[in-house]
Amino acid sequence: MKSYEEEVKNFSWEISKKELGYKDGDIINIGWYCSDRICEMGKANKIAFIWESFKGEEKRYTYNDLRVLTNTIANYLKNLGIKPGERVCLFMDKIPELYFGLIGILKMGAIAQPLFSAFGSDSLLTRLEDAQTSAIITQKKHLPKVRNILDKLPYMNYIIVVDDDGAKPLREKEYAFNLEKEERIEKFDIYPSTAETPSILHYTSGTTGKPKGAQHVHYSLISQYITAKYVLDLQDDDIYWCTADPGWVTGTSYGIIGPWSNGVTQCVTEAGFTAENWYRFIEKHKITVWYSAPTAIRALMREGNEIVKKFDLSSLRHLASVGEPLNAEAVLWSQEVFGKMFHDTFWQTETGCIVISNYPGMKIKPGSMGKPFPGIEATVVDLKTFVPLERTGVVGMIAIKPGWPSMFRTYWKNEETYKGKFKNGWYLCGDRASIDDEGYFWFVGRDDDVINAGGHLVGPFEIESALIEHPAVAESAAVGKPDPINMEVVKAFITLKKGYEPSKELELNIMNFIRKKLSPLAMPQEIEFVESLPKTRSGKIMRRVLRAKEWGEDIGDTSTLENDM
Ligand code: PRX
Repeated sequence: MKSYEEEVKNFSWEISKKELGYKDGDIINIGWYCSDRICEMGKANKIAFIWESFKGEEKRYTYNDLRVLTNTIANYLKNLGIKPGERVCLFMDKIPELYFGLIGILKMGAIAQPLFSAFGSDSLLTRLEDAQTSAIITQKKHLPKVRNILDKLPYMNYIIVVDDDGAKPLREKEYAFNLEKEERIEKFDIYPSTAETPSILHYTSGTTGKPKGAQHVHYSLISQYITAKYVLDLQDDDIYWCTADPGWVTGTSYGIIGPWSNGVTQCVTEAGFTAENWYRFIEKHKITVWYSAPTAIRALMREGNEIVKKFDLSSLRHLASVGEPLNAEAVLWSQEVFGKMFHDTFWQTETGCIVISNYPGMKIKPGSMGKPFPGIEATVVDLKTFVPLERTGVVGMIAIKPGWPSMFRTYWKNEETYKGKFKNGWYLCGDRASIDDEGYFWFVGRDDDVINAGGHLVGPFEIESALIEHPAVAESAAVGKPDPINMEVVKAFITLKKGYEPSKELELNIMNFIRKKLSPLAMPQEIEFVESLPKTRSGKIMRRVLRAKEWGEDIGDTSTLENDM
């Protein structure tokens, strides 16, 4: 990206279309753009994917491998009898079949429905029932979860097991598929999808309610390609690592489509999070661009600075974060230990691509989400009239002018809820923020997380950010609890860093520390030390659960809660 201001003046989505060689009305299949096209551009032998298993075993795939293996999957699914438009669920750990599976499904015209493999049977059932999914690609270890619910899934016809070893016979509707042993399909007739052909059905992480299926289309590529290039700064010689699981939108938009449509090499590890694992991974593969999330960054901060020094992380060139507000403290910490700031990016399952962000080369104001992507018209609107706020620094709802290419097209079988997201010609994100006099967006909180303290709306983010500046605090969540006078007052839940124990003294010390930073209304009236905070499996703090407990209310749908197995 040239300078941000220049880009805003000159940008149009046509630039992306031109780079992709796409003209309105053409066939557009994301699967082709992520593999065949890159080969046609002369990069068939370039490494597309470096994958590491739990045990550290490594596999490498070129763009030609990616092309052929995704053809192989597409061909297999088509021959099984799966038709374009049917939903095919991907229910696997982060193994190559998950990544290639998504592209394979798109190539044969079906709709990919990725679901996080740690979901239990109930979470799986809700989403497969809703989408009337007809096939699921999974692993032996997850098969029992599918078998448990099969009798409740009349539309499910194909259960494809990618690592069946023949030890136990498969049942009716179950099929063994081995990507490595299957005959490689050099040529496959890719489904001639057009702009509005459905591509991916992503169930939202449900921090606030029942998960909804956000329906995306192949045209989303136009914004996913160019945002990956401009915001994540992907360049030809980059080694990219997106830590998100493709069960969530970050893991598909920027863990599959963004890097591969840009012809970049990306790395994935199946291993779970530990600071040691992650730093070793960056060092070993010389990762240059790293896209992660605040929850992981705070976990790394918790492990301290010493461990960072054990690794050579000098390959890192650009760092970005998404999923939750990124506290200023985390941005400053990353500058201190990695010599690079994490660039906060804001978007949603529904937006399909990054919509507000800090860009390479732009001045970063730690704690701010940055500015709208060129081509995206974003603002904050009044809470009642939905008219853009004229004064800077006033909190309103984040709103985006519809029409960007990767906007979701509906909620699956829930058009009414979809329509309810649009007011006064704006798409409402369901988040609150203010804009400063330089056009930077400052996140306040999700609509439902905002605390009403005596008629004053207080966002949890500023309280939590003040709290984590205290040396003992690892993470925090601020919620409203009932109060006879003020309606709500702030209560803070805190997890502590290693070496700190909960005590009355520490509570007082923390209170004194934040008193200087917060307005009296934002000051917590109570602190509760906890071992961990309730989070979605994608790493978001579920304040709703903490709040419901304070109010003695039902906690609602918790199917995405981390510990609901
Ligand atoms: O509340 C905002 C928060 O995550 C929501 C979207 O979640 P999801 O659909 O699961 O997609 C996550 C990955 C794209 C938003 O409505 N959120 C996401 N990024 C940020 C954020 N909140 C503050 N700052 C961010 N950078």
